[in-house]
Amino acid sequence: MRIGVAREVKTDEYRVALTPAGARELVEKGHEVIVETNAGEGSSFPDADYERAGARIVSLDDVWSLSELLLKVKEPIAREYPHLREGLVLFTYLHIAADEPLTRALVDSGISAVAYETVETDDRRLPLLAPMSEIAGRLAAQAGAYFLEKPLGGRGLLLGGVPGVAPGRVLVLGGGVVGYNAAIIAIGLGAQVTILDRSIDRMRYLDEILSGRVTTVMSSTLQIESSIADADVVIGAVLVPGARAPKLVTRSMLGVMKKGAVIVDVAIDQGGCVETAKPTTHSDPVYSVDGITHYCVANMPGGVPITSTKALTNATLPYVEEIAELGLAEAVARDRALARGVNVLHGKVTYEPVAEAHDLDYTPLADVLPLMPA
Ligand SMILES: NC(=O)c1ccc[n+]([C@@H]2O[C@H](COP(=O)([O-])OP(=O)(O)OC[C@H]3O[C@@H](n4cnc5c(N)ncnc54)[C@H](O)[C@@H]3O)[C@@H](O)[C@H]2O)c1
Repeated sequence: MRIGVAREVKTDEYRVALTPAGARELVEKGHEVIVETNAGEGSSFPDADYERAGARIVSLDDVWSLSELLLKVKEPIAREYPHLREGLVLFTYLHIAADEPLTRALVDSGISAVAYETVETDDRRLPLLAPMSEIAGRLAAQAGAYFLEKPLGGRGLLLGGVPGVAPGRVLVLGGGVVGYNAAIIAIGLGAQVTILDRSIDRMRYLDEILSGRVTTVMSSTLQIESSIADADVVIGAVLVPGARAPKLVTRSMLGVMKKGAVIVDVAIDQGGCVETAKPTTHSDPVYSVDGITHYCVANMPGGVPITSTKALTNATLPYVEEIAELGLAEAVARDRALARGVNVLHGKVTYEPVAEAHDLDYTPLADVLPLMPA
């Protein structure tokens, strides 16, 4: 199959959908890889690295028109819509339930679009979202520690303490992928860590693997009110699938917090779990409300593109290989996780929440592809 890698065009997006190592794997399996000029630049992968891996460097027009399978990181933006066409399979983060113009452009073009974020295993894991949550969680602990420094508006506390001086306290709201990764970095820095979650099974698991190094407590409004008063860093990491994040920290709760404490609201991409949170950017990441520093960067992994690109492609490559080897129809017939990723097929919306969101006809994937497993 001829697999293309397009350069990202959204502001502040430095990731690329395939590393030279990934390109080499595909070339060795007999596929042709074409990469748009300078696609890997932001992640420190020059064109020459792709060429050494056996890929061919091509223009923007060629990468879109010659590819059978096109890999991207972010959803196409308006100026990319004219490139969408029938016969092309697009594999990328799409988030089209919140983007009607793109949904209509995909449908009208007749393209087949597979969204990273809806690829879902039978046990409800999201394998192509998890690597970004891992990165955001780890960055959250680092950001919290950094913005505690006095010249940056923080309390002036070293999170890990030193011998003879107590460390700081980190409160993690939601012990999923983000929360777990935030906790292990905070523990590594020497902080005292408490995780609040609503799932007993999840807390049982966290207790088992982090035994003795974190305190897990059932999340409730009363518990949050009392834990937040002691915290130097609060990390918001809750997720209620398919819904906006619940506002667990209200403005009035800020009043009980220590002045100069830091809130890192990672859940900001789902609206945030802190009432006073609003999205910020890497170039202007923090602001203060009632003396509490708020860090609410909506695309945290974008700040570390070398790591993010490698982590993303580690996760996507097995699916890319499946599609390339078998073609989309056969690949989704054999892999139900990948099948759940198909949002649009030959111009039909095959992912129900997207159809519902935009009042479009929903066509079950099995109606379009008779190969679907029962
Ligand atoms: N800002 C960024 O750059 C960025 C990057 C990656 C992920 N995220 C976001 O981070 C959030 C967390 O993602 P994740 O992958 O860890 O999700 P996850 O599903 O792995 O974990 C969410 C956890 O929240 C818990 N939870 C739900 N309601 C709760 C409540 N009321 N109190 C306490 N815990 C509660 C769940 O039980 C679960 O353990 C999501 O909103 C995700 O979109 C943001």
